[in-house]
Amino acid sequence: MAAVLRGVLRPGAARRRLLLPSPLRPLPGARCCSAGAPFQYLAVQKTGARQSVGVIRLERPQALNALCEGLMKELGQALETLENDPQVGAIVITGSQKAFAAGADIKEMQNKNFQECYSSNFLAGWDKVSTVRKPIIAAVNGYALGGGCELAMMCDIIYAGEKAQFGQPEILLGTIPGAGGTQRLTRAVGKSLAMEMILTGDRISATEAKEAGLVSKVFPVEKLLDAAIACAEKIASNSKLVAAMAKESVNAAFETTLAEGTKTEKRLFYATFATDDRKEGMTAFVEKRKANFTDS
Ligand code: HXC
Repeated sequence: MAAVLRGVLRPGAARRRLLLPSPLRPLPGARCCSAGAPFQYLAVQKTGARQSVGVIRLERPQALNALCEGLMKELGQALETLENDPQVGAIVITGSQKAFAAGADIKEMQNKNFQECYSSNFLAGWDKVSTVRKPIIAAVNGYALGGGCELAMMCDIIYAGEKAQFGQPEILLGTIPGAGGTQRLTRAVGKSLAMEMILTGDRISATEAKEAGLVSKVFPVEKLLDAAIACAEKIASNSKLVAAMAKESVNAAFETTLAEGTKTEKRLFYATFATDDRKEGMTAFVEKRKANFTDS
């Protein structure tokens, strides 16, 4: 396992990481998928019986996984690799038990000025997460604050550990969310709670997040990652092609009117009839057997 993991870790870091406690343990059946490219801030692995789940673990523990530019660049690269891997049908992004991510890196932002932010198109790369066509599950333990909460909300499903805390505390730093927080949080939990969180900086618990519709399920801390992987594996067992269409159609609900959205849905529904997998799925039902999807 060590040899396998070494391919995704910084030289010299493998031994240290393998000695870390359970939340960072190597995943059973996991293996390297980054073509040997070493990541400084991430561990990227494939897992599941068919190696169909890509797991990206944010690993910057000394800064509670604060999302520095290097980490976000690596996250983009890891997502690109998994997006292009035909074996992978779903992706899980997770952090540590203490922090999913405590936000954008405040120390990196501290001395930036407007001109730098504007000219460098600061945060532009963050959109990568929301453009991936494969389903992504955020498995959130601990803090998901500021950009960390925004990162989770860019994913398609959020599972939370029971001690997770969600918040947009940017107002306490004299700024506002900049990676979709004012938009996605409002769509997820409604205006009143979004306004309250964004204007006060107060956090909500996993239970509150579940009640508000921000997360779909809450798990004991130790069971969270396994549950997220199980969900991802279930998604990956369906047609990857049709799953991408389903994701595209759900996402249209956030971009357009009901009439336009249902038109988009209808077009994509019709499009499934051009796939082998639609034929196989319905034939398998009629023949009372399990469908064997080929992603075609
Ligand atoms: C840089 C951070 C950080 C961050 C924590 N650290 N959050 N560094 N950026 N966002 C660092 C601390 O400086 C410290 O390093 C180490 O991580 C441990 O943090 P502590 O504060 O000592 O831990 P604790 O007392 O347990 O408190 C945890 C915490 C607190 C409540 C999460 O760290 C915190 O409030 N962090 C900031 C959360 C936040 O405001 N996030 C929004 C960021 S703005 P040292 O070296 O001192 O030990 C944002 C903008 C989004 O996200 C815009 C678009 C992306």
